[in-house]
Amino acid sequence: MSGCVENSKLSFAMDAKPAYQRILLKLSGEALMGTSDFGISPEVMSFLAREIKDVVASGVQVALVVGGGNIFRGEGLARAGMDRVTGDHMGMLATVINGLALQDAIERVGVPVRVQSALRINEVCEDYIRRKAVRHLEKGRVVVFAAGTGNPFFTTDSAAALRAIEINADLMLKATKVDGIYTADPKKYADARKYDELTYDEALTKRLGVMDQTAMVLCRDHGVRLCVYDMGRPGALKAIVMGDKTIGTRVHG
Ligand code: GTP
Repeated sequence: MSGCVENSKLSFAMDAKPAYQRILLKLSGEALMGTSDFGISPEVMSFLAREIKDVVASGVQVALVVGGGNIFRGEGLARAGMDRVTGDHMGMLATVINGLALQDAIERVGVPVRVQSALRINEVCEDYIRRKAVRHLEKGRVVVFAAGTGNPFFTTDSAAALRAIEINADLMLKATKVDGIYTADPKKYADARKYDELTYDEALTKRLGVMDQTAMVLCRDHGVRLCVYDMGRPGALKAIVMGDKTIGTRVHG
């Protein structure tokens, strides 16, 4: 098809303009493991880097929030008997490790990245400074927000919601292993139905487990538009930012 890009049935005109100027993409730590039980998969990292490069190339500003569950999860450590605050600190440091790995992978495909941490570790990366983050984004750099909110008891979903609000992101994306939000776990229930669209109140009342309640209430109260999509589908991220509404599930206020 001339003047058109096609990728796994995702298509858009080559001269089309992105539907969003600034996005915040939330990646879970587990998403970086690939098929392993822990750690960071080089294949997943380079796949993500290429997907992000494509989006940056279309002129969209990209911020990332990454979890740390592939290395440490505070809640799990607390269940095993560790002090919860210590466990959460370890989890936050795990997100910094993932942030640095993302920086390396994305810079290797030629896109500049700045990592900003909510905990001060200046030898390793910049501190989180909102106005500086926005300046980086305006200069076409990808900004990775690491160390969650810098506080224990808050998830990285809440950190993503908070940062999306602070930087005025037009869309927050939550990358998952399924292509949206379902009435039940589609891997367990064959009759599970996918939602194309939902309100935060519906998601909260139906306890759909899209994100934790703090994150959803923050998004709802501040009018953040959310898209939950399958990060493993090549071209999906680009198609979403180009305005394809058929991918994933949209959640709004
Ligand atoms: P501009 O001011 O737009 O030029 O941004 P810049 O990020 O290129 O300039 P800056 O001088 O702030 O940073 C240069 C490099 O040092 C970048 O790779 C930053 O990520 C890094 N950097 C800046 N501040 C810190 C810090 O506090 N700690 C660490 N480890 N690196 C930093």
